[in-house]
Order: sequence, then C-alpha cells, then structure tokens
Amino acid sequence: TLEAPAVNAAGQPAVPAPAISKEITVLFGSQTGNSSGIAKKFSKKLQEQGFEVTTSSMSDFKPNNLKKVQNLLIVVSTHGEGEPPDSAIAFHEFLHSKRAPKLDDLKFSVLALGDTSYEFFCQTGKDFDNRLAELGGTRLTPRVDCDVDFEEPAAEWMNNVLSELNAASTLTPVSVSSVGAAASTSTESEFTRSNPFQAEVLENLNLNGRGSDRETRHIELSLEGSGLSYEPGDSLGIIPQNHPLLVEEIIAAAGWNGEEIIQVSKKGDTLSLQDALTKYFEITVLTKPLLEQIVNLTSNAQLRKLLEPGNEQELRNYINDHDLLDLIQDFDLRGVTASEFVTLLRKIPARLYSIASSPSAYPDEVHLTVRTVRYQANGRDRYGVCSVQLAERIEPGDQLPVFIQNNDNFKLPANPDAPIIMIGPGTGVAPFRAFIGEREEQGAGGKSWLFYGDQHFATDFLYQVEWQRWLADGVLTRMDVAFSRDTDEKVYVQHRMLERSRELYEWLQEGAYIYVCGDEKKMAHDVHSTLAAILVQEGGLTMEAATDYLIQLQQDKRYQRDVY
Ligand code: 2AM
Repeated sequence: TLEAPAVNAAGQPAVPAPAISKEITVLFGSQTGNSSGIAKKFSKKLQEQGFEVTTSSMSDFKPNNLKKVQNLLIVVSTHGEGEPPDSAIAFHEFLHSKRAPKLDDLKFSVLALGDTSYEFFCQTGKDFDNRLAELGGTRLTPRVDCDVDFEEPAAEWMNNVLSELNAASTLTPVSVSSVGAAASTSTESEFTRSNPFQAEVLENLNLNGRGSDRETRHIELSLEGSGLSYEPGDSLGIIPQNHPLLVEEIIAAAGWNGEEIIQVSKKGDTLSLQDALTKYFEITVLTKPLLEQIVNLTSNAQLRKLLEPGNEQELRNYINDHDLLDLIQDFDLRGVTASEFVTLLRKIPARLYSIASSPSAYPDEVHLTVRTVRYQANGRDRYGVCSVQLAERIEPGDQLPVFIQNNDNFKLPANPDAPIIMIGPGTGVAPFRAFIGEREEQGAGGKSWLFYGDQHFATDFLYQVEWQRWLADGVLTRMDVAFSRDTDEKVYVQHRMLERSRELYEWLQEGAYIYVCGDEKKMAHDVHSTLAAILVQEGGLTMEAATDYLIQLQQDKRYQRDVY
C-alpha cells in the first residue's frame, strides 16, 4: 500500500519545509481605499491564523526598516498614467533609488489593483514586483493584477499567499475560530461592495441656478438600519445602472433579443439580456483586452487592423471616446451572439463619491454632491452613467445600492485645534462640507480656511448659504472664492492662494493641514505648483527644497488629496 504523506494533526508536513518566519509585513498604497481595505482584511485573516502581522500604509513605513522584513505583502493600486498613489510615491521612489538595500532574504508577493481601460494597467504593482525581485527578493506567489472588479482575484491571491505561508511555516496554525472570536472587536456592517445596502433616497436637488452651464445634484440618502457608519473624508460607493435607451440601442444595433435569457456570472445567475446590460455589465467603457477578444469572434478587417502593432495611438483614441454601441456599429458585429458577447464584458463598477455630510450633524444620513456629466462625442450624446441616473431617473423614495468606502488618506486632524486649509473648487467642495459640519458639532477650536471656485457666482456657488452661515458663526475662519467666468480674465483658486501667500505661509508655519479635493489633472496639479511657489516666495526656499517640503508635508499627513 502507498504510505500516506507524513502530516501532523494540523495538516502540516511532519518534516518542516524551509522555515518561514511567522512575522509578516503588509504594506498598502491606496488612493481611493480599495488597497487599504484589502490589506486590512487580509491582515486580520493572517492574524487569526497565528501570524504576527504589521500592517501600514506605505506612507507610514520607515524604508530603513525594510532590511529587517522577512515576509512582505504589498497591495497597491495604480493611478493616472501608471503612477503610484500619493501615499506610495515616497516608498516607490526609495525602492527605485540607490539607497534601496539588498533584499536577498526577503520573501514577498504583490497584489496590483488597476483598470484595463488604462494603458499602464497595474504599472505600480508591476514596478514593485520587478524591483523587489531585482533587489534579491523571492516571490512567495506570483503577482496578481486585478481589473476594476477586484474582489475575486484579490481573494484568490490571499488564499494562495496564505497556503504558501502555511505550507512553508513551521508554525502550527492557530484554530481560526478561537482566535477569531478573541480578536473580533469590530462592529462592521454586513453591507459591503459585494453586498450593498439598499438606501432610500430622501432628497434630490439641483444646486445650480437657472441659466448655469452646470447641473450639480445634492442627494440625501438614509442609512437607517444599515449599521453603516463613516467619518468625514470617506466616500460612498453606488452601484449604478446604465441608461435604458443606450441598452435598447445596443440591442437593436446588434440584432439581439432583449428577452433572451443570459448567464451573467460563473455561479450561473441569469438575467434577461435587457436587464443584464442595464444592471450587470459595463457598456460605456472599452478596454484593449475586450477588443482583443472581440476580434476573435468576427472577421472584421478594420478592427483587426486597429489592434495591429503601429496603430497604438489610434487604438488609444478609439478606446478613449467610444463605447459598446460605437463598437457594434463601427465594426459591424451583427452575427456575434449576445451570450458570446456578454461573457467578455466587465461587471459594472461602483462609482465613488466623496461624502458631503458630517455624520455627527446628520446621523443615519449621507449626502452627496454629484455633477451631472453630459457631453457629445462622435456625433452622439454621451452620459455619465451614475450622475445621469441620479439626475434623471432617481427620485425621493427610490432605493440605491450603496456601501461605505473608508478613505484614510483624507481625514481631519485628530487635534481639533489644528488649523485646516481646504481647497475645493466645484464638487471638490463636498468633503469640506462634511469637515466643517463635523468641526461645528465638535465645537472644534482650530482655524479653517476655504478656497472655493466655479464658473459663476450667481448660479454655481454650491452650498453658499451654509458657507456664509459658518463664516458668520466663526466655524469657518476665512473664505476666498474664485469665479472663473465672471471676469474677463480667468481667476482660479490658486490665484487666490497666491494673492494671500503671506497668510497662507503663516498658517503653514502654525501647523495647518492642507486638503485638496477635485479635478486632478488640471486643478490639483496647478494648486501643487502654487504651494511650491508660495514656499519659495514667502519662505525663501529653493524650488527643490520647496518640493521636498511638500513631500514631507504629505508624509506627515499634513497635505492630503482626494482628487479625481
Ligand atoms: P473654468 O471652467 O472657467 O475653466 C470648477 O470646475 C472650477 O475650476 C471652474 O471655475 C473651472 O474654471 C476651474 N478650473 C478649470 N481649470 C482649472 C485649473 N487648472 N486650476 C484651477 N481651477 C480650474
């Protein structure tokens, strides 16, 4: 008879494999909170299994301690054009510098979060993975790259890492139930991204005045009975639905039947095609992997050509401003069956909005400030999926599937007396309504300064009445506004900052925290340069020293950004 392999009661090999330390460091680099959520969940699981886990944001990790780390798990997202999130910049830079130590004894694994509709998919995760190996580290398990629907691959990565650690560890795993019970002190809600809460809509108003170019919805939702809680700076995730007209047009263009029953998940859940395209799948964003798979289902020469080497720029342009309906029309995809087609689509991703309410001022409610996105491209009207759903198809009394996304990277100072400077033009003002509302409830003593801007004073001053009341009551110390289209020359928030550079510099000297929320590419970038310019002008720093100063502020969490 064959001898059973020697294992002990816990299922471990009797002869220990090369010993793996039970000390594990989990580092995350998060922008919107996904990486930090995964890292914390995994850390808890590892602890329950008896590992000694140190978990921290990359921004809080002292790079010199890296030499001492034996097992390193990295969860990191990629931002913009393949860049690390703010909280990972310094560590990323350190690892790629000459100061990075040899890591011959290191075991590591990387979970990379990203989005296949971006060219530099998971680039930051790839950077860490390659560099750690280059420095001598050994992969515990191969890197996993996740698309926007990250939950399944992330869970798989965790399981693989865990079994690798357990297999190689000399440690007898502690029974999960016993440790789990002892460690469980959290009061987490049962409602999450994958099991959202159906929140009732209490209010839905347009904040912009008649004649404005803009439409900005103020939405109030009830969290009553959900057990969900949040802090100022956190975001709310909404699972949106696609526009029914777009769904109809797609079905008609492809020659499909909306009543056809379609399998939507590996588990075997089914929906009518109409419902599947409305509620389950993403139909407004194209990705390169999607086009690469579709080209195999058709004989369309034009599509094949678009994917050939040398046409990268055309492909990029096509992906950027086309959707599924364009794809079906432009490349004549009639003939591809609906059930073949939908297996290639991504699940509709949640939209995250910075919460605009203070939980202390509005217990059991969450308020959002959502700008309606409508534009034209290639001769057709285009819609922001969630913002237009909120603007056109959601009324008080309706329900929306929601979850809370914690954002540790955007938090009021723990000290209520610390001064804060808030820069939030447009809908970027949302979290500051939460900040000031919270500080009012706390009776906080710290000074506060808001820089706000939008196109026109008369129609676009979001929450004007509240800001003016807060200013009159002294809850808000200063407010400077920039209405860009009321004057011949454009004025933006950063121009106001520069006009007040002396005072702004003094506030910084007094330990003020700076918060920037809103448009990333233009506004936040220009605001950053302006902060550096103010340090040069008022503090007499060189440009290089000013840049370092801002990095240090970021490290100290005195400069936080929530940008999109
Ligand atoms: P504009 O639309 O008149 O150019 C909120 O969207 C406000 O941000 C608007 O007043 C908008 O001005 C302004 N804005 C546009 N680009 C900006 C930039 N680079 N920096 C700061 N504000 C900007």
